[in-house]
Amino acid sequence: MSDTDLGLLAETIKAISEGVTDAVANLANFSAVLFDALDRVNWAGFYRLLPDGALLLGPFQGKPACIRLEAGRGVCGAAVTRGETVVVDNVHAFPGHIACDSASRSEIVIPLRRGGQLWGVLDIDSPVEARFGDAERTALEAAAREIEAALERCE
Ligand code: SME
Repeated sequence: MSDTDLGLLAETIKAISEGVTDAVANLANFSAVLFDALDRVNWAGFYRLLPDGALLLGPFQGKPACIRLEAGRGVCGAAVTRGETVVVDNVHAFPGHIACDSASRSEIVIPLRRGGQLWGVLDIDSPVEARFGDAERTALEAAAREIEAALERCE
């Protein structure tokens, strides 16, 4: 995907969710938009934060994934604990990485907030090492802000 196209991600997320107030419908479409728009990506989707701190699988595209990630575990848990984006260039070098798809080599996880509280994460995996550089991080964080805006509009 070119940087020009990356710039369209947030706009697409905003456009496709206009007037949609169901969270599952929105998240299903967002995972499809991200999976379709980004090349060299083998998984794109959401995990929702539970009251006990674990993460529960949400809408996604890619191979079937781990349903429950225990609190603080894996790259997703690290993003929740730190409250910030985590980019892993080589998942094999990340202690505690949870391999849902053995093809995954690099990963980006962006925390999502709703009503000022941590709501869950956007998780994207690639079969290519160091797939997510500065341009991808910037574009995906902008897309994440639009995802948060859409969640605010949901019932
Ligand atoms: N690799 C993640 C688990 C989720 S899957 O990638 C879909 C992690 O380490 O948290």
